Amino acid sequence: MELETIIAQACELDETVRGHRRHLHEHPELSFEEHATADYIASVLEQEGIFCRRVAGTGVLARIEGRGDLHRAVVLRADIDALPIEEQNAVAYASKNHGVMHACGHDLHAAVLLGTLTLLNRRRTELCGTLFGLFQPGEELCPGGASLVLKEDPFAGYEVQAVVGEHVDPDLPTGVLGFRPGKYMASSDELRITVRGEGGHAAMPQRLKDPVVAAAAVITALQQVVSRNADSRMPTVLSIGRVVADGATNVIPDQVYMEGTLRTFNEVWRTEAKRRVCEIVRHTVAAYGTEADVRISDGYPCVVNDPTLTEQARRLVGELFGAGHTVELDLRPTAEDFGYYTQRYPSLFFRLGVGGTDPATGEAGKLHTSCFNPDEKALHYGVANLTALALRLAEAEV
Ligand code: NI
Repeated sequence: MELETIIAQACELDETVRGHRRHLHEHPELSFEEHATADYIASVLEQEGIFCRRVAGTGVLARIEGRGDLHRAVVLRADIDALPIEEQNAVAYASKNHGVMHACGHDLHAAVLLGTLTLLNRRRTELCGTLFGLFQPGEELCPGGASLVLKEDPFAGYEVQAVVGEHVDPDLPTGVLGFRPGKYMASSDELRITVRGEGGHAAMPQRLKDPVVAAAAVITALQQVVSRNADSRMPTVLSIGRVVADGATNVIPDQVYMEGTLRTFNEVWRTEAKRRVCEIVRHTVAAYGTEADVRISDGYPCVVNDPTLTEQARRLVGELFGAGHTVELDLRPTAEDFGYYTQRYPSLFFRLGVGGTDPATGEAGKLHTSCFNPDEKALHYGVANLTALALRLAEAEV
């Protein structure tokens, strides 16, 4: 595999890939509504003579068959949904769909994957096994497109060697890629707690069962999960972000409603932490003579990177672009539905720098904001890297 040739081919394709990115950016669609997005992706693939079909409703699954044992497969995954944000960038290709914007870079992810599949299809005689390009819908919305993809089990009958996902990062300079072996992103569960008491005149609390004071005690007591129950080596976040006690200066309400999030980096501890939340709420409200309902909606699982794959990919970036083009990432308490793939297959999720020459200037803006404006020069780094990685992973399968 000639790495310099791959870089040259990625550069040649750069204008086309930028065109895909700008088209997708101009026409963003919300999670699970990616109809035009999927049509566009399928039409590009068909023009290149790449087989594809729909998956998980509005997703697209491309397939390129190489030589050798076609049951061995590598999956490259890009998410394709946008966010409910009104774009404020004054660019020619700004969003035409009011109130919807590609503010998390999923337009870049899809464009990089389109470019990568184009190059890999031209080199398919060098590929061993089957290569899947997965354009996944609904990353931003629970239950997450990844869980729907896996429910359809499109890789049944294949031995999946690796699932590879990439995400843009405005805090990394363009041309720099970030890796982290093992635990990387958090699990995320939603907490909904209703504390029920007996409301009435706030001047005579002795006649009531005050759910407000009980709820306040619950908020404080729940921090024990983080400070007393979590092993100090197990980063954990528990935040209550919404509290509704709809009384008045002189009225104690009958109930208080609260919402929050619980994040961990370990699936065993995650289960235990959820059990502790229920226990702490139950006992705390009982001490105040009140009762509570606790509902916990399971969100995305932790993203855990396969250490061997991570090291392989990190080393390859060094060979491709030279030393200094990789960084070790910190743990990240945000969540990604890519976690579902990491539970089932050896997987790798890494970051592609889009922050320009100096991310400190903040020119690329922040993810999930109306001013997010990633550096498009990152596209050819993304295509060259993903192409080389797919070829190397496929080579390793012989
Ligand atoms: Ni994202």
